[in-house]
Amino acid sequence: MSDAAASDPSSVTRVRRSPAEAQAWYSTLSRWYGTVATPFEADALDAGLSLLDAAPGECVLDVGTGTGEAIGPLAEAVGEDGRVVGVDIAAGMCRVARETVVAAGVADRATVACADARGLPLRDGTVDAMLASFTLELFDTPVLGDVLDEWQRVLGDDGRLCVVALSKRPETVAVRAYERLHEAFPRYLDCRPIYVRATLREAGFEVETALDLRLWGLSVTVALARPAFR
Ligand SMILES: C[S@@+](CC[C@H](N)C(=O)[O-])C[C@H]1O[C@@H](n2cnc3c(N)ncnc32)[C@H](O)[C@@H]1O
Repeated sequence: MSDAAASDPSSVTRVRRSPAEAQAWYSTLSRWYGTVATPFEADALDAGLSLLDAAPGECVLDVGTGTGEAIGPLAEAVGEDGRVVGVDIAAGMCRVARETVVAAGVADRATVACADARGLPLRDGTVDAMLASFTLELFDTPVLGDVLDEWQRVLGDDGRLCVVALSKRPETVAVRAYERLHEAFPRYLDCRPIYVRATLREAGFEVETALDLRLWGLSVTVALARPAFR
């Protein structure tokens, strides 16, 4: 089977909730997300932060920042001459992420903006490095290309993107079971596994490095990518 046939987008389950429903749901989740989800995601997030390798003086964007778990380590890495922006659509998540920024003592270089990742409040080419941890797979298949075009706009030609996402590869029993749950409860389980490498390539990124992890039987891909036609 060719690589293209093996990553057929029509085999990816669709996201059947609206952005407004995501906004409301994640605001509700925000108070206990750190207790329930963050420990489950920690190893994958650490792998993403290592691969992104933020450097002193850089401007880093954490898209779909949630409770802002990544902001502290990113702010440490960019140092006092750098800048970190966390963006999230859910007001509740933004509130908790701002508390995280203050608790981490990095308010001098980190901010949180409540905004939609499909229309980022940043100028073209102003971001050196971008992290999307368990966020890209929240967008429905037909809009994934547009979302990645928007992310590429703020990255410009020289930026890099690290995606940490639930993956269809390898398609384990747990991945298939999770997809069934996603179809049964589309409003509450809106993340679903995608073909991470193929999605990035089809949107004009070159995948430089990719790791496949296993979290409770689910496949997670951590990929570092750059705009392909620089
Ligand atoms: C699964 S959580 C991941 C949070 C964090 N990145 C982490 O790894 O713990 C996904 C986050 O994306 C946010 N989100 C969902 N749709 C979004 C959109 N269109 N624009 C910006 N953020 C969005 C949600 O509010 C939520 O906080």
